[in-house]
Amino acid sequence: MKVLAIESSCDDTSIAIVNDDKTVEFLETINHRKFHKDLGGVIPEMAARQHLEILDILGKSIKKINFSKISAIAATFGPGLIGGLIVGSSFAKGLSISKNVELIPINHLQAHLLSPRLVSEIKFPYLCLLVSGGNTALVLVKNSKSFITLGSTIDDSAGECFDKVAKGLGLGYPGGPEIEHLALGGNIEKFKLPMPLAKKNNCDFSFSGLKTAALNTIKNNKKTKLFLRDFSASFQHTVSKVLEIKILNCIKLLQKENIKINDFSICGGVAANKYLNTELQKLISTKKLNYHQVPLSLCTDNAAMIGWNAIEYMKTRKIKLNNYNVRPSPNILIHEHF
Ligand code: KG4
Repeated sequence: MKVLAIESSCDDTSIAIVNDDKTVEFLETINHRKFHKDLGGVIPEMAARQHLEILDILGKSIKKINFSKISAIAATFGPGLIGGLIVGSSFAKGLSISKNVELIPINHLQAHLLSPRLVSEIKFPYLCLLVSGGNTALVLVKNSKSFITLGSTIDDSAGECFDKVAKGLGLGYPGGPEIEHLALGGNIEKFKLPMPLAKKNNCDFSFSGLKTAALNTIKNNKKTKLFLRDFSASFQHTVSKVLEIKILNCIKLLQKENIKINDFSICGGVAANKYLNTELQKLISTKKLNYHQVPLSLCTDNAAMIGWNAIEYMKTRKIKLNNYNVRPSPNILIHEHF
């Protein structure tokens, strides 16, 4: 099986060709970051126009593809920004009809959650922490079609918290990588920040109180080099601690319910954070679980994970395929299918 995949849900336009033996034959991702950088976030209308232009450019690579070898065309149909979803899904539909190749609409969140299996021998069921710009959730991945959310954020996502705090520090968008860079060598204990919901014995997250406290601390201090370094380190450490506490609650819950897992993985943009990976790896090893880190190219939005998700579906063949009436859905939930 060989799948041509398209991703266009936010501010990355990406095309990939993925094989069922897990080889990624082609992956090109063009980020629109420079257009949104000074505006502090993604402007949906601008993002949609960028997807249109970039797909035109990436379309040149598509012309060289031998379609007789392509088993299916997969595209993100949601969740995400509706403009980008319309552009990518329409592009895929048109290609599917003109080349007479099956179309597979993909739920972007499920693709993130299945992405560790593209690079690791990770068996179902496993626990996965999804930490991106739009989501923070702990999900039991039972198989390629069954996802049980054990906890999720009740307000902001971890990525959003990184981005807003970075904006307060006068950094660019996206804020996560900039904070991670500033935090190198900083004192993680210097600033005591709140850990909302940490004492609640559940798997839900809250980041809005941490965000507000962090922004207040920024307002009350001079942005010296030392402050930026120590504050970034303390903030990053606090986010990591909150995630750790909730992962532990989740592992306890699974044990209580007699659900046996051997593997843990992390996916989404924030999963690119090296400090977070180091801390979580330590934690997971104390629980005798295998830790699976996904490479940077698979953490942030990319079409390889969309192609891989389609291959996982095709292996089971139990879902309805090739339905040209399927519409993009900006708010589709983690467990829902097209
Ligand atoms: O998964 P993603 O590319 O987009 C979606 O939300 O779908 O995630 C983007 C988020 C942004 O909030 C960005 O600040 C965060 O991932 N991020 C990071 C790092 N790299 C990206 N956060 C912390 N540390 C990083 N190194």
